[in-house]
Amino acid sequence: MCGIVGYTGSKQAAPILLDGLERLEYRGYDSAGLAVRNGDALAEVVKATGKLYHLADKTDQGRSLPGTCGIGHTRWATHGDPSLVNAHPHVSGNCSGSGSGQVESDVVGVHNGIIENFTELKEKLLRHGYAFYSDTDTEVVVKLVDYYYKKYKIGPVDAITRTMVRVRGSYALALMFKDYPGEIFAARKDSPLIIGTAEDASFLASDVPAILKYTRQVYYIDNLQVARIAPSSVKFYDLNGDEVTLPLTEITWDAAAAERGGFEHFMLKEIHEQPQAARDTLNSLIRDGKIDLTSAGLTDDTLRSFEQIDIVACGSAWHVGMASQYVIEDLTQLPVRVELASEFRYRHLPIRKDTLVIVISQSGETADSLAALRVAKERGAMTLAVVNVVGSTIAREADHVLYTLAGPEIAVATTKAYSAQLVAMDALAVQMAYVLGTISNEQYGHFIEELGAIPDKIRRVLEDKERLQWFSSKIANAHDIFFIGRGLDYAISLEGSLKMKEISYIHSEAYAAGELKHGTISLIEHNTLVIGVLTQSELFEKTISNMVECKSRGAYLMGVTTNGNFTVEDSVNFTVYIPKTDEHFVSSLAVVPLQLLGYYTSVNRGLDVDKPRNLAKSVTVE
Ligand code: AGP
Repeated sequence: MCGIVGYTGSKQAAPILLDGLERLEYRGYDSAGLAVRNGDALAEVVKATGKLYHLADKTDQGRSLPGTCGIGHTRWATHGDPSLVNAHPHVSGNCSGSGSGQVESDVVGVHNGIIENFTELKEKLLRHGYAFYSDTDTEVVVKLVDYYYKKYKIGPVDAITRTMVRVRGSYALALMFKDYPGEIFAARKDSPLIIGTAEDASFLASDVPAILKYTRQVYYIDNLQVARIAPSSVKFYDLNGDEVTLPLTEITWDAAAAERGGFEHFMLKEIHEQPQAARDTLNSLIRDGKIDLTSAGLTDDTLRSFEQIDIVACGSAWHVGMASQYVIEDLTQLPVRVELASEFRYRHLPIRKDTLVIVISQSGETADSLAALRVAKERGAMTLAVVNVVGSTIAREADHVLYTLAGPEIAVATTKAYSAQLVAMDALAVQMAYVLGTISNEQYGHFIEELGAIPDKIRRVLEDKERLQWFSSKIANAHDIFFIGRGLDYAISLEGSLKMKEISYIHSEAYAAGELKHGTISLIEHNTLVIGVLTQSELFEKTISNMVECKSRGAYLMGVTTNGNFTVEDSVNFTVYIPKTDEHFVSSLAVVPLQLLGYYTSVNRGLDVDKPRNLAKSVTVE
């Protein structure tokens, strides 16, 4: 997610903006920029790629940018590679390649969020004579504000509200207008934005940590509201442009807690961000009731050309592949192989020219996955990367890229990126099946509707977290935990087991439930915890009987199943229910209780949840 900071007051703005952006670094970014105004003078823009200190060095720690009013931004690329020209701030006029210099434009702004209809808006503005210098959706929205500001000769607030009516997506916007020195205008929908106030200054920021050093008095601007801030005044407006009043809130958090949005750990924050991550990813792939993968370069003809799918990844990304295998095979009738990247890269796997190799990776930098991608390309396969980091190595080297929009993931144990990958792969499976004709129009519509309901169902599962917190206190001293399931439930078990062992350090294994009797059941002792995933109706009874076999040998049983399957409680000691959904997409829901169980167990054991021992967020070495 991007970071936004704004300041207008009696002090020099640039150093305050740099300090604020530094406190937002945890949000992840790949470029940064400032726009500062010195009195009535035109705004001066400076941008830099990479780490924030490059921007600080470029502006002599802000000293080379005099002025008491300004906005700053750290960019997490979603539209357009992480480059200087795509870095914010963006302007309503033209911009030099370096992205820095005095701004002749009427409007300069920064944005956090995703404008879903930016393509159609860009075409509209091109028809009205605007030219574009970047690939970003932000430049489009800044120019759209300028368009309404000039066309209707209305003030900034009205130009912004007209823009808000026209735009679809999420945004936190901070804008400066040439004709309004010393003032900053802001608007919000679904992306975080707060307004701070102090004796001689006003602030705005994506998150509390950026301004906590200067004030604890903040306004939480609501969705579809506009703010107008000046050194000694803050005003708010609704979508009609009518002034509204907001309550002033005292921030009691410390800076560290504020970075986690008030959550105790980044992992818990990111578990709770899963509905948004899934929604943003699906919204980028589903338009007007149809799945559109052309942004990944996957036309319907391209999708029809494959006879074999190979999915290659590591860790949780590999678990996404294991889940997707069942979905793709069931919907498209295409054969799907799922390979660990560390194995694939050294195997002499027969790869045909009509094979699509899909490499899934959150970081886009995992060494084994990158090596596997290169092997696949050498062997003549078409490659698709499903990654979360724009411009990452795997993204750049694959033939096609399908980005997940989970935002930066800080905790080593992946959650929201995993969920975003799942729904992206589900959408791919449905679209492939539709163009191959293996599902009907009616089924296509059904699946898209079911996918669209996933984010809110994830949110409903999260409401059950206290029961998992309670149960985790019962298992904190377990020595062995087994996760079992059949079909998709086995794939979910794999992820549940990894979440448990990587952050609680309790030995855990995932097993295809039907495989237990071939050896592993000898490990079951009194009170061994066996967690059964039971979402696939045609396999439900089979897995229950495997669980009962374990129970007869002393095991303690937990079950994760769909609302309504209450018979499970005849056998299972502790049950978690998830909302009904089409069984192809149930992984997105069933994994959440298992993520929470692993999280709370780690917390109960007093461990470093976000940075577990021996692990790195991205394994960039073999
Ligand atoms: C999962 O919680 C771990 N962080 C790890 O298994 C991770 O999924 C794996 O290293 C792959 O990382 P990638 O998605 O960035 O390629």
